[in-house]
Amino acid sequence: MNCSPSYCNLFPGFEISHAKGHKLISIDGEEYLDLFANFGVTNLGHDTRVAQAAKDQIDKCMMIMTSDLINRPAYQLAEKLVEITKFPPHSKVCFGNSGAEANEIAIKLAHWNIKGIGLSFINAFHGRTLGILKHSASKKIHSQGFQIERPIYIPHFGDLFAIDYIEDVIFKKLCDPSEISYLITEPIQIEGGVVVPEKDFHKKLAKLCKENEILLIFDEVQTGFKRTGKFFAFQEFGIRPDIITLGKAIANGFPLSATISPLMTWGIGAQGSTFGGSVVSCAASLKTIEILEKEVDISAIERIIGNYLRQDTPPIVGISGMGAIWSMTFPNQEIAEEVRLEIFKKKILTIPCGESSIRIEPPLTIDPEELIMAMETICKITKEVGNRVIKYL
Ligand SMILES: Cc1ncc(COP(=O)(O)O)c(C=O)c1O
Repeated sequence: MNCSPSYCNLFPGFEISHAKGHKLISIDGEEYLDLFANFGVTNLGHDTRVAQAAKDQIDKCMMIMTSDLINRPAYQLAEKLVEITKFPPHSKVCFGNSGAEANEIAIKLAHWNIKGIGLSFINAFHGRTLGILKHSASKKIHSQGFQIERPIYIPHFGDLFAIDYIEDVIFKKLCDPSEISYLITEPIQIEGGVVVPEKDFHKKLAKLCKENEILLIFDEVQTGFKRTGKFFAFQEFGIRPDIITLGKAIANGFPLSATISPLMTWGIGAQGSTFGGSVVSCAASLKTIEILEKEVDISAIERIIGNYLRQDTPPIVGISGMGAIWSMTFPNQEIAEEVRLEIFKKKILTIPCGESSIRIEPPLTIDPEELIMAMETICKITKEVGNRVIKYL
C-alpha cells in the first residue's frame, strides 16, 4: 500500500475490474450499480463511443502540446465550448488538467484584470492544490497543517442573507468593494452537502458584483455538462458569470479542464501547461458533448429521485437537490454512513457529502427502470436503519 494516506476507501473490499455503461464490475465478477458517476465525471457512464474517439486519436497522434502547437481537436473544442456556454464569440478558453487547476487559472485571470482580494463562500469546495485551497472551506482536513492566507468568506450560501452580509458587513466593515477583485462560487454547493440556492440568489449576487466591479467566477467543475439539466448550471439561474471553470465530466473521464472568459487578454506564455488540452482528452470531450447534445435529457432522473426522496423517510432529516444531483441528510455522520454501507451491500454505489449526507449522482444515461429499483432499495434500507436507530436519538 504505497498510495497517499490522504486517499480513502469508500467501498470496503470492492476492487473495480472493469465497467459496462452504468455498472461497475468487481474483480470477482459482481455487478454494482453506479449512482455516483466518479463524483460527477462519467456523466455518460462508461461510453464505448467516447473510448473509441480517444483510441482513434491515440492511433493518429497521442500527444500534441496544445499551448504551443495548433491542433484540430483542441481548437474545435474551444470553439464548441464557447458555443454551448453561449459566451460572447470572442471569449477564450484556457485548458488545464483538473478542476483545481481551472480554478487557479480563473483566479489568476481575475487578478490580471483587477488587482485585489477575493471572496468565497463558507462550505465551498474548489479544489485542494495550494493555490486554490484557501477558497475551499468545506472540510478542515483539506487545509489542516498549512498556514494559508485566507480570503474573506461569506456565510449562508444560497440564502439572500448572504447578499446583505456582503453589503452590510464586508463592504462596510471589512474592505471597500474597490479593493475586491473577484468572488468565486459554485452554482450549487455539492461537496458542502448539495445546497441549492434560493430563487434569485444568483441574480442578486451577479447584480451586486456588476455594480461593484467585482468579477464573478462560477466554478462549474461538478455542475457542468447537464448535471443540473441545462448544459451549465449558470444557465438555470438566468445569469452569465465573467469567468467559468469546467472539469470532471468535460471529457467523460479523460483528464481535462477549461477556464472560459471574454476577459482573457493576457499575452503569449502567460498561461499554459504541458498536458493541458491533451489531444486525446479533447477528442474524447468533443464526442462527449456530441452525445450529450443529441441524447441526454435528465428530466426522468430528476422526477424519479425527487419523488422518492420527498416521501419523507425517517431518519432522513432533510433532502435537497436538482437535476441529477441530490442529497439526503441524516441526524449524524454515523447514521449516514450506516445507511450508505447498507446500500453498498445491495450493490448500489453512493457517496457521502456535507457533514452527514449521502449523495446520489448517477450517470445521466442511467436506465430509469434501474433507477426506480435502486431508489426503492435505498428508501427501504433507510426505513430499516431508521427503525433501528430512531429510539436512540
Ligand atoms: C466544484 C468543484 N470544484 C473543483 C473541484 C476540484 O476538481 P479536481 O479534483 O479535478 O481538482 C471539485 C472536485 O470535486 C469540485 O467539485
